Amino acid sequence: MAAQLTPIGADALRATMGHFATGVTVVTASGRDLHGSTVNAITSVSLDPPLLLVCLSSDSRTLAALLESGRFGVNVLHETQQAIARRFARRGASWDGVGQQEGPLTGAPLIDGALATLECAVHDVADGGDHQIVIGRVLAVRHPDEHAPPLLFYRGTFTRVSG
Ligand SMILES: Cc1cc2nc3c(=O)[nH]c(=O)nc-3n(C[C@H](O)[C@H](O)[C@H](O)COP(=O)(O)O)c2cc1C
Repeated sequence: MAAQLTPIGADALRATMGHFATGVTVVTASGRDLHGSTVNAITSVSLDPPLLLVCLSSDSRTLAALLESGRFGVNVLHETQQAIARRFARRGASWDGVGQQEGPLTGAPLIDGALATLECAVHDVADGGDHQIVIGRVLAVRHPDEHAPPLLFYRGTFTRVSG
């Protein structure tokens, strides 16, 4: 494969990192209103203590609500939930018609039909340029025992596991 050297602008970085296929989540928080942001910059960090990290744009409304409450939810989306991923890719998206239940430990919305959900407390926040790196301590997890196919994001497009 011929390597292509491209100057590092935002578009080049986004296009290059887009080759790293990810799952898709909605990170949620509750303040005066409910908030949610589609997020794929998320990974597990530590098993003991149980930590994960999520990178949120500094101007995200969900980030503001999450920092205020000190709590957040993570909803890993199922392959049938592309419409939810698109909805929460819009700033200040409405929750009208989205089935959800309040997380018992965080008050953050847990979306019906999500492949897996986690409830977290903010453990630390680090500077990440135009994003904030939020490290969450995982308080509770839920996932089904049976295999369920995830929604994926690859090269700027929603896709599914094939084969
Ligand atoms: C597939 C996908 C992944 C995204 N991943 C992130 C992410 O990791 N971090 C982030 O800050 N925004 C991400 N976004 C953009 C946010 O979803 C978008 O900015 C949203 O409007 C934020 O809403 P809020 O301001 O109400 O929190 C992603 C969007 C899409 C479509």
